[in-house]
Amino acid sequence: FNVPTPVNDPIKSYAPGSPERAELQQTYKELKSQELDVPMYIGGDRVFTDNKKPMLQPHDHKHILGYFSEGDASHVEQAINAALAAREMWANMTWEHRASIFLKAAELLAGPWRARMNAATMLGQSKNAYQAEIDSACEFIDFLRFNVQFMTDIYKMQPESAPGVWNRMEHRPLEGFVFALTPFNFTAIAGNLPASVAMMGNVVVWKPANTQIYAAQFIMELLLEAGLPDGVINLVYVDGPTAGDVIFNHADFAGIHFTGSTGVFQNIWKTIGNNIHKYKTYPRIVGETGGKDFILAHSSANAKAVATGITRGAFEYQGQKCSAASRAYIPSNIWDEVKEYIIEDLKSFKMGPPEDFSNFINAVIDEKSFDKIAQYIENAKNSNEVEIIAGGGYDKSKGYFIEPTVLLSHNPQYVTMCEEVFGPVITIYVYDENNFEETLELVNSTSPYALTGAIFGRDRYAVEYATQKLEQAAGNFYINDKPTGAVVGQQPFGGARASGTNDKAGSMLNLLRWVSARSIKETF
Ligand code: SER
Repeated sequence: FNVPTPVNDPIKSYAPGSPERAELQQTYKELKSQELDVPMYIGGDRVFTDNKKPMLQPHDHKHILGYFSEGDASHVEQAINAALAAREMWANMTWEHRASIFLKAAELLAGPWRARMNAATMLGQSKNAYQAEIDSACEFIDFLRFNVQFMTDIYKMQPESAPGVWNRMEHRPLEGFVFALTPFNFTAIAGNLPASVAMMGNVVVWKPANTQIYAAQFIMELLLEAGLPDGVINLVYVDGPTAGDVIFNHADFAGIHFTGSTGVFQNIWKTIGNNIHKYKTYPRIVGETGGKDFILAHSSANAKAVATGITRGAFEYQGQKCSAASRAYIPSNIWDEVKEYIIEDLKSFKMGPPEDFSNFINAVIDEKSFDKIAQYIENAKNSNEVEIIAGGGYDKSKGYFIEPTVLLSHNPQYVTMCEEVFGPVITIYVYDENNFEETLELVNSTSPYALTGAIFGRDRYAVEYATQKLEQAAGNFYINDKPTGAVVGQQPFGGARASGTNDKAGSMLNLLRWVSARSIKETF
């Protein structure tokens, strides 16, 4: 069970004048100048249809990157059949050969594929070079390498034996196929949801968010180049209800690996529940959903650290990380200082398309998202419960641009203190520094979510007390740091309550959901 010891892939800086910057800029330019015709991948076939849908750049929505071929129910059926046809060979392949495919994919991504995957993520999902690098390169590479290690850790878990008896466990794949339903906001998550399931010997039908298909097809090509056999992962682009109707009515449906909204996940869970008598096995339901991630500062906190936690935690990738800070609780004694630092820091945040590497803020993903976020800002402008202390502007004429916006709320239950906005908007509530206890209760009870959260403070008693009191309020809890940017192998990621099933991505806990163990007793 010895595999190469995983280490986190080093983050490249893309500093001006560096060779990696030149390569990334060149690759970006090349991809932008092409118009891709993107197929679905079913069995060994690249499947094109006449139903071509455009892929846009969020920061320049008139510029089309290409077209994807949308499929229908028959393509989902074909994908399931292709997966089931591949199942026996794949499930019986020895783990070393499976592992080697994903280790090779990591190697390719760390080398020749790096610029392409980063450029695709920058173009299609509007990430700046750094955000693309930590996602589509580093995090994806880390998922692939660390999961191989976790897989062997699982296989090593064996029961005790007694004299005259040999007990053993086979960690077999699930009986059937798994559905991977993936989000737009992380290329690494889009890749990891199908790849981690497949690594454990399962076959997969994968449906990405429409706004992430551009990079998704590069992920598929990467895995195929690394040697993934045909039919193990089948990539389809079909609208949600149509895909769901075929998949959740299929007797061989064995599980879902999901990242997306709480509403969609809850509907899926209900559908699975209603259809439970149709399945051969109880399907595994693994999902990471919404968040209303918080930053709580104690009166002993360093104001500058808090302000930086807010600006980075709330506005990296336009606030579209599931982990992004979107509500903050600041004590009155440090508020003036925190506010000054926030306003000062935001002056350095340039907004524009990712091809200018000095832009920190790019566009939000699409028009629907833009309109929803803009409406929250408009409502705030018209409310006497909140004031806008930074940003508040938006413009979709060329791209879906929204300024990083900081709201100060006088009501701790104001709508943007409670609801997920999924954009560059954070709402701050300033509390009386003597009311820490009540504020802890507010943090804990204001939203149904529990994904990420952060406490800032230098008073260790206060930090320890908050850590205990907020025990269930965040699956990923940060002390004196922003609540984003979990690193594979360092901070296993996932939330509880309405934020998901908390099966920590990038850990053995997640991979354990994709095995169906057989316990064998042999008597001599
Ligand atoms: N893993 C990401 C982060 O921690 C969110 O999905 O920011």
